[in-house]
Amino acid sequence: MIKLIKGFHDILPDETPKWSFLLSSARNTLERFGYREIIPPIMERTELFVRGIGEVTDIVEKEMYTFEDRNGENLTLRPEATAGILRAVAEHSLLRKDPVLKMYAVGPMFRRERPQKGRFRQFFQVDAEVLGDDSPYTDAEVIAAAHAVVTDIGGRGLIMEVNSLGCPNCRKAYREELSRFIEKHLGELCGDCRRRYAVNPLRVLDCKVDRCAEIAAEAPVILNSLDNECRRHFDAVQDALGMLGIPFRVNPRIVRGLDYYTRTAFEIIHEEFGSSKAVGGGGRYDNLLKELGGPAVSGIGFGIGLERLALVIPDNDERFAHSTQVYVAPIGENALETAFRLVNQLRSAGISAETRYSSKSLKANMKIADRVGARKVIMIGDDELSRNEVTIRDMLSGKQESVKMEKILQHVQGDKE
Ligand code: HAM
Repeated sequence: MIKLIKGFHDILPDETPKWSFLLSSARNTLERFGYREIIPPIMERTELFVRGIGEVTDIVEKEMYTFEDRNGENLTLRPEATAGILRAVAEHSLLRKDPVLKMYAVGPMFRRERPQKGRFRQFFQVDAEVLGDDSPYTDAEVIAAAHAVVTDIGGRGLIMEVNSLGCPNCRKAYREELSRFIEKHLGELCGDCRRRYAVNPLRVLDCKVDRCAEIAAEAPVILNSLDNECRRHFDAVQDALGMLGIPFRVNPRIVRGLDYYTRTAFEIIHEEFGSSKAVGGGGRYDNLLKELGGPAVSGIGFGIGLERLALVIPDNDERFAHSTQVYVAPIGENALETAFRLVNQLRSAGISAETRYSSKSLKANMKIADRVGARKVIMIGDDELSRNEVTIRDMLSGKQESVKMEKILQHVQGDKE
């Protein structure tokens, strides 16, 4: 047997109703907040991610699925959606028509991480981006949208954590302070971090090696090095979140795993999974679009992982229980043709209906009716056929009644949903 690729997963028919529920709920939430869907491709030129996400990040250094196309081009399966969306914005000059763009995308992302619960090599994200507006109100609204995606599905136990990563101006002073701190611990850091220290010391703060993470927990935080403007912006974001009643706490240790962030950064943490498996994360990126060849326009957005979002609510919930309005149960060979005609007549009338031509006993049929979540079962046996009738059982009340063949549709349609 040829097996699934490690870290990839199937979403089986029993799981897709929950999956569709999550997706349609997230879509509704984002459309309510004014976002419109964009569907960029899942593969881009490698250069886009190297420039966008940053050369010295874990994602670019060791997690991308990169390969050479037959004509020698370097291509990568997208590890995230932001860079591709911004490429599309720049390429199609979308900001010329509309100086503020609010877009969302859903689909698979690919990162070659070590697989474990809630961590996959192919995972789905709901991603939202706002371009062209750097008001702190926008930051608060984006955080509110991320919060709503999770609470609208009934998610509980979630904590919104926010931080500010400042602008390049704040970073200059901070970088020096951080370098001095790291230098003292250089001998204890992993090989990757020793290299990161020389190129981009901020990345040491995102290392997953235990000892490096312990040292990072003691490092100075950028929040204390913000310049006046960035400080005012961050204060205003917090005030605005307060106005909306969004519960949040400031976590000065949020660094994010991608290099493009400036100012506001945030993560949605679930009390059970902790910060290493955030349900979602995002932030402001005021220089990314320009970096990717577009206009110098600021942006902010977030990504929410659907596999992790799925863990926030139970699997068995009637909001996404699989159900069929009618199961037609042919009891015995003679009933097959009638069942065949009837089930298709019901479907043509817009009723969801199922039958099986291979299960001929009542018991077997009732089992399938249960399996497909039938609300009514239409039983057709020899008796019924001889009277030109069927027996209809309401699965909820258990009530049964005989109904003339020609009255079936009327009877089923009369059902109040
Ligand atoms: P990120 O924090 O790398 O941000 O990913 C966002 C979310 O994707 C995570 O919080 C998590 O739920 C999910 N995720 C990431 N990696 C995995 C994985 N290996 N397995 C399962 N789920 C995963 C970004 O991707 C940014 N592009 C978000 C953003 C948009 N920032 C601004 N705009």
